[in-house]
Amino acid sequence: MRKFGLIGHPVSHSKSPQIHGAAYQDLGVTAEYVAFDIPEDNLAKAIEIMKVNGFEGLNVTIPHKVKIMEYLDTVGEDATLIGAVNTIVKEGDRLVGRNTDADGYMESLLGALRQSTLANSNVLVIGAGGAARAVVYGLTKHDANITIANRTLHKAEQLAMLFSSANVETVTIAEAEKQLAKFDIVINTSSVGMYPDVTNQPIDVTFLAMEALVSDLIYNPLETQLIKAAKQRGNPVLTGVEMFVNQAALSIFHWTGLTANREKMKAEVLKHL
Ligand code: ATR
Repeated sequence: MRKFGLIGHPVSHSKSPQIHGAAYQDLGVTAEYVAFDIPEDNLAKAIEIMKVNGFEGLNVTIPHKVKIMEYLDTVGEDATLIGAVNTIVKEGDRLVGRNTDADGYMESLLGALRQSTLANSNVLVIGAGGAARAVVYGLTKHDANITIANRTLHKAEQLAMLFSSANVETVTIAEAEKQLAKFDIVINTSSVGMYPDVTNQPIDVTFLAMEALVSDLIYNPLETQLIKAAKQRGNPVLTGVEMFVNQAALSIFHWTGLTANREKMKAEVLKHL
């Protein structure tokens, strides 16, 4: 029996055990995936337990994605640039921190667009927190022209500075609404619209171009107010479920070298939303 898991606090609502379970079953891998609720002061102990109990890998979720780095032997380039670890991989005796959020998100975005690059695409990113950092990093790897809009402008500016070698600008939300017609892609990484505040919307889409893709990282609810408003106008949309599935599938790839079936994983998570 191969062993994988998740550490976070709280973890009781996580859908990760279900999607990982569906993936291993489809791959024919005999494995267990256990969610561990670990308060911050027990993090060091949790890592020790992983080492001695034969766990090959762990996912890491809120609130441990940054703090966990202190307990790892190496942190990979993606996790370093994103500033957070969501996947721990045991390589021999060493624990390596990785982050699959950026690649997971880009896989879903490029799949929805049926494109292999974002060169010449104007992308609006709403929000400037941890999720935004992963998305902006992913977008820079695909040469997008990026504009970050955030309620607190100086946080957008701080995020843009981390990627100053790329094409990144910042604006207020009000300014982004005025400029909306120029964007090919609008991505909400903020928590606006997340359960239970499901009627909130991070930006008014009135001036959006008809063919622009609207993407929301939130998957609870599956269709946020932003996604509903975009769909109503006939814009193409991308919900947060795809990223959730792809980041998990990429963790499985790090741990096993196997390519998990995204469709089966998505079907499983939709059952539980
Ligand atoms: P995550 O790691 O999920 O990105 P985070 O780091 O707490 O979470 O970031 C949350 C993002 O949602 C931030 O961009 C935040 O804006 P501020 O930087 O101004 O705080 C944004 N956000 C949260 N609640 C918001 C609200 N009610 N209106 C606008 N933006 C909001």
